[in-house]
Amino acid sequence: MSNLTDELEASIRTIKDYPKPGILFRDITTLLGQPRAFRRAVDELVHPYAGQQISKIAGIEARGFILGGAMAHQLSAGFVPIRKKGKLPHETVRVAYSLEYGVDEMEMHKDAVKEGESVILVDDLIATGGTAEGAVKLLRQMGANIVAACFVIDLPDLGGRRKLEDLGVQVRTLIEYPGH
Ligand code: PRP
Ligand code: MG
Repeated sequence: MSNLTDELEASIRTIKDYPKPGILFRDITTLLGQPRAFRRAVDELVHPYAGQQISKIAGIEARGFILGGAMAHQLSAGFVPIRKKGKLPHETVRVAYSLEYGVDEMEMHKDAVKEGESVILVDDLIATGGTAEGAVKLLRQMGANIVAACFVIDLPDLGGRRKLEDLGVQVRTLIEYPGH
C-alpha cells in the first residue's frame, strides 16, 4: 500500500462506543505500532519544515508527546510538553480550555519557550479545537511564533480547524473523518 492517506487510514483503529455510547474513537496506537505507518506519518508531518529554523515542537499530552518527540528529533528541534494541570514541577502558565462536556486546565513551563521562538504545535487529533486553542494561548502568552499546528486526524464537522485558523494559526492534518 503506497498511497499515504490509505496506508494511514488503514493503520488507525476505530472503536465504537468508546469512551461513551455514540462515540467513534479513532485509536492511533495501531498506527504507532506499525513501523512504516509511524515513520510515514512523522515524515509527512515534518516535511514542510525541513530546512526551516524550528526551535521547538510543543506536544499536547498525551499522544502529542509521542508524535512531537519524533518530530523534534527529525527537525533537530527541542520538545515542549503541554500537560494537564498539576503535572509540571517548575513555574507554569496555566489556561482553562473547553472539552465536549465542561472545562479543564493545561499548563506549560514558563521558561519552555522564549519570546520569538518558532514553534510547531502537535497533537494526534483535532475535534472541537478546544484543546489546541488552549495550547495556542499558552504558547502565545510566552511570545512564541506558532508556525503551524499539526494533527494526524481532523474531525472537520466539529470545527476545530476553523477555530485555529480564525486565531491566525496555520493548520495541517493528514486524514479527515467527515461525519466522525
Ligand atoms: C483528545 C485528543 C485531543 C483532543 C481533541 O484528547 O487526543 O487531544 O481530545 O479534542 P478537541 O479538539 O475537541 O479539544 P483527550 O481529551 O481525550 O485526552 P488524552 O489525549 O489525554 O487522552
Ligand atoms: Mg489528547
